[in-house]
Parts: sequence; C-alpha cells; structure tokens
Amino acid sequence: MKKKKIIAANFKMNKTHVEVREYLKSFFKKLKEFSRTFNAGDVNGNKENGSDSGSSRKSASLGAAGAEIIFAPSFTALNEAYNIIEENFEFRNIVKLASQNVYCESSGAYTGEISIDMIKAFSCSYAIIGHSERRWIFNESEELIAKKISAILNYNKKIETDICNACDNNAEKHSAKFAAITPILCVGENLEIRKSGKAFDFVAAQLNSALNCYTKNLNVGTEQNKDEFRLTKNAKSLKNNHDEGNIGAFASNIDTEKLIIAYEPIWAIGTGASIEPEDGEKMHKFIYEYLTDNYDIKNFSVIYGGSVTEKNINFLMEKNHIDGVLVGGASLDPQSFFNIYSFAVSK
Ligand code: PGA
Repeated sequence: MKKKKIIAANFKMNKTHVEVREYLKSFFKKLKEFSRTFNAGDVNGNKENGSDSGSSRKSASLGAAGAEIIFAPSFTALNEAYNIIEENFEFRNIVKLASQNVYCESSGAYTGEISIDMIKAFSCSYAIIGHSERRWIFNESEELIAKKISAILNYNKKIETDICNACDNNAEKHSAKFAAITPILCVGENLEIRKSGKAFDFVAAQLNSALNCYTKNLNVGTEQNKDEFRLTKNAKSLKNNHDEGNIGAFASNIDTEKLIIAYEPIWAIGTGASIEPEDGEKMHKFIYEYLTDNYDIKNFSVIYGGSVTEKNINFLMEKNHIDGVLVGGASLDPQSFFNIYSFAVSK
C-alpha cells in the first residue's frame, strides 16, 4: 500500500486563537473546493446533488489519494482549532492536530509545561518532539527528548491495554476508541557539522538517543544490547501480557509504535535556503535504512523541514524517501500552505 504523504504546518509562536480560527476557516473553504474538483471521475455520481454523503465521499477520495494535513498551532489555539476541525467533520480523516511540544511527566509541579492528557483532550494525534528551536533556544537535552518519546510510547501502550481490556474483543468498539499520539521527532545537523561531512553520524546519534525505548531490531547487535534496547520496563510487561493473550485479539492491529521523523537541517530552517532535493533524498534514505536495520518499528515516515515553499515542494516530493514536509514560515498564510498541500497531493 502506498504510504500517506504528510503535510504538516508548524505555526511556532505565531497566531492568536482568533487568528487561527480565521486561518482554518479560510483553509477549509479551499479544501472543500479542492475536494469537489479532485478525482472528479470517482465522484461524478454525487456531483449534482451536493448531499452530505456526496461530500464525505469526495473527501474520502481525497483522503485515499494519500495525504494527511497536520496543524500545530500554539497551545492557546488548540481548542479553537479542534472546534473548527469538528465543524468540518467530513475531513476528519485528512486533517489532524499536533502539539508543538509535550512534557514527559503526566501531572505535577512543572510550571509552564503541558501533559499528554492535556493535548489528548483537544484530540491531538501528534506531538512535535525535539524541534531544533527547543533544543538550541531552550536547551532541551537529548535525555529529556528521549524521556518525552518514552512517555508517549508508554501512554499509548497504557491506553491500548485499558481499551483492550474493555472492548470485549469487539473490533468496532476497539478501534473506535483507540487513538494514539504519534511523536514527530525532529533531527538535523547544523552547518558546521554538514560542512565537516559528519551529518549522517550526527543524525544517527540523535536517533539512537531519542529512540532508545523502541524495540531494537533483533537481527542486529549483541545479545546484551538487544535486551537493553527492548521496550521500557512498563511497556515491556504490557507487551508480554499481550503476547500471552491477555490483551484483546485486536491489539496487534494497533500502531502504538507509529513514528514520524522530521529531518530538519538547522541551517535550512527559516533561512530560505532549503536543502537540494538530491541531498535531502540521501539523508532520508539513510534514515530509512538506519531505522530498518536497527529498530523494529513497523510504521514510520520520514518528512523534511527547512524552508519548504510552493516553489520547492514539487522537487522535494519527487524523491522516493521524502514522505512529506514540515512547514514553518510558508504555512502561516493559508493560501501558500494550501498550495503546498495541493501540489503534494497531486503528485
Ligand atoms: P521553516 O521552518 O519552514 O520556516 O524553515 C520549518 C520548521 O522549523 O519546522
């Protein structure tokens, strides 16, 4: 099956909740128009009557064409964004929400932080972790980033278990309730590292450090490091439970370990100097092979971020290993972000 492209907007510290409302209204208007004309061959039967089921079928065909749109507004605008997405329910399988960050503890005295439960309450499906601005401006360490990733993985495993225990082996009940948070882990080198030729080693080290809670690929490594890199203690005991058949029969269909890597070279972020698509492809292929060889993660995508615009999206999306984009500056205008999306989906 062809992988879904991911077109994500990171608003960073821009836009009040009122501005996000106006933005999303304008974006959905364009999306509706686009879905009406997209894949017209499939939806001709419904074209005239304009019924709800017709419009759902159109958005379904747009979704099946294979791109998911993700918005990461500031925390203060998540509620508003959630409301507008709900109002445009026919696109709920296409348009998702992400938080720009999340903390690794579930509650407590952590002034200024936000928990996984809090972002989940606004139906966030994704959380951006380890963005270079968090790493370099706010001094987030590799250790903290690893803890955040691990917290999300454990959270997913826990709700999976709770739901499995309550679903009476009913697939519908099960999948209706289950919604995991997918981390969007940002990695990427600075200019000095790129110039020194060490970008690949640097990114590999960032991946290793952040992903140490994911299952290591059992085909590589020594017996000791296979064990060390297995799921964290909590997730490990849940997995044993599952393997012994204590969790509902549908657990294996659920992707608690889904992951997005955003390769964002720091020298390309906000500078207007995007990576050459060929160089991007090389790094994306490297990340693909690195994860496949070293980790047992079945569902991952590798997206690119760093001065993505309407002008370079076509060249980037032509590359085999670039599964999508994370867009900062060019996502702030709904027309420009919409153009990026429509170019990508028409590829
Ligand atoms: P940019 O930002 O598109 O403005 O370069 C990308 C990002 O930081 O995610």
